[in-house]
Amino acid sequence: MSDKRSAHPVSQEVNATSVTTVSRASELRFEPRANLKRKNAKLRHHLRPRTFPSFRSRHHHQTKWSEKHWKPFEAMLSATSISMRTGARRAVRQSASSSSSSSSSIITAAPNANRCLLGLYHNLSNARSLSSLRSSRPAAQHAVAGIVGQQRRGYVATINPNPPLGKKNASNNIPSRIGLIGARGYTGQALIDLLNKHSYMDLQYVSSRELTGQELQGYSKRKIIYKNLSPEDVARLDTDIDCWVMALPNGVCKPYIEAIDQAQKDTGHKSVVVDLSADYRFDKQWAYGLPELTKRSTICQSTKISNPGCYATASQLSVAPLLPFIDGTGFISIFGVSGYSGAGTKPSDKNNVKLLADNLIPYSLVNHIHEREISHHLGGAKVGFVPHVASWFRGIHLTINIPLNKAMDSRDIRQIYQDRYAGEKLVKVVGEAPMVKNICKLHGVEIGGFAVDGTGKRVVICATIDNLNKGASTQCLQNMNLALGYAEYEGISTM
Ligand SMILES: NC(=O)c1ccc[n+]([C@@H]2O[C@H](COP(=O)([O-])OP(=O)(O)OC[C@H]3O[C@@H](n4cnc5c(N)ncnc54)[C@H](OP(=O)(O)O)[C@@H]3O)[C@@H](O)[C@H]2O)c1
Repeated sequence: MSDKRSAHPVSQEVNATSVTTVSRASELRFEPRANLKRKNAKLRHHLRPRTFPSFRSRHHHQTKWSEKHWKPFEAMLSATSISMRTGARRAVRQSASSSSSSSSSIITAAPNANRCLLGLYHNLSNARSLSSLRSSRPAAQHAVAGIVGQQRRGYVATINPNPPLGKKNASNNIPSRIGLIGARGYTGQALIDLLNKHSYMDLQYVSSRELTGQELQGYSKRKIIYKNLSPEDVARLDTDIDCWVMALPNGVCKPYIEAIDQAQKDTGHKSVVVDLSADYRFDKQWAYGLPELTKRSTICQSTKISNPGCYATASQLSVAPLLPFIDGTGFISIFGVSGYSGAGTKPSDKNNVKLLADNLIPYSLVNHIHEREISHHLGGAKVGFVPHVASWFRGIHLTINIPLNKAMDSRDIRQIYQDRYAGEKLVKVVGEAPMVKNICKLHGVEIGGFAVDGTGKRVVICATIDNLNKGASTQCLQNMNLALGYAEYEGISTM
């Protein structure tokens, strides 16, 4: 979904969008920009009034359009006017990113990730709403018309308050030297694959007890032999490394971090550390590396980044946009099923292929570490998370039941998600419930479903994520890019 047109001026975006409303979107999406501009010049005058009935009565005979011209136009407007919404989001994205670069007031500095998310919502009211955009940018008026219904219902459209940094973050063109501890595991191997294709990541050391002495496969930039690096070795090598990635099981990382900290007291060197385990996800000294929800500049400035859990990433992305509308007296219930790579390589029932055949295994039915993580980073929301493991290798499906504090409808809820994730290249908001087999090997999260019950006060949302990609290695690389000064999506295939 990379949007090359996002670099164009707002007026052009909106004008192109206006044209789209009177022609088949599929034709126009590929039409040369010069044609669009020519058509737009003819149509701009007629498209100016945005209230449909008066538009029709005042301009119908002037334009000499027949009913056959009107029908598709009318249908397009009533069918949620997707192209106009897209135009609005493009306009807003520009506004958001330009305002975020010019001012830091939209999202306040957050000393820790939990406060960060709360701060983010606290500041939604300060974020430039589409109505303020309307007054400050006349050209965007046409684009905002598509969300008037949403505003009428009282769910103020909130633009993405934490837009992606994208290429704005690209301040470093020197390759970074990377050390990977826990390189034999599933997440370590997935990261090696990404680093191999990255323009600036230069893997130097891979550590594994089991593979010591063997040559690293699947990495073509240089020849590397696996070593069994102890915390002392890591401390000794630290000045040769710009970023350490810890892909170790929970509870193993601490001696490495302590050794690095101790070494840096003497050398003054500051390498970045990204930890994939759960060990530092609740530690206020560490940035919680979920870039779509944690203030991105916090991650950029951090040298200690805890990578979120796979289930926790998809769950938080699926719940966060609705936080202001959640009925706090009820539980958010999250039913998750993962492929068995989520259980790592150490043999257990959870990655026993024979036991998993024709089977589904529930585990940690209360108090799973991700339950605590989701709740903690959603500002203490009440969460019941029940994970399962199934017979496929990679990919997670979540079904999330959310109690609402007011009656809402499916379309409005989906729009809230689309607005919240405007410009995000690793979050895709879809209508239908996404399928786990379609997310396999992709690098983002798909969120869909948005089924609302008869009361309007309960919504069920579904999400899919590849646990080894956005659930681990892709998110790790996104955090590395941010912290090391590369374009946020460098080396990542966006959705
Ligand atoms: N799998 C996922 O989907 C996923 C998603 C998100 C986050 N995570 C987290 O990422 C981390 C790695 O997960 P994984 O699935 O890649 O695990 P894994 O496949 O079991 O790999 C673990 C790695 O750590 C090394 N290791 C194990 N025990 C060690 C010890 N005591 N000291 C030093 N090295 C040790 C192993 O290599 P040697 O035994 O050869 O030394 C191996 O390279 C875990 O904390 C996990 O919770 C996993």
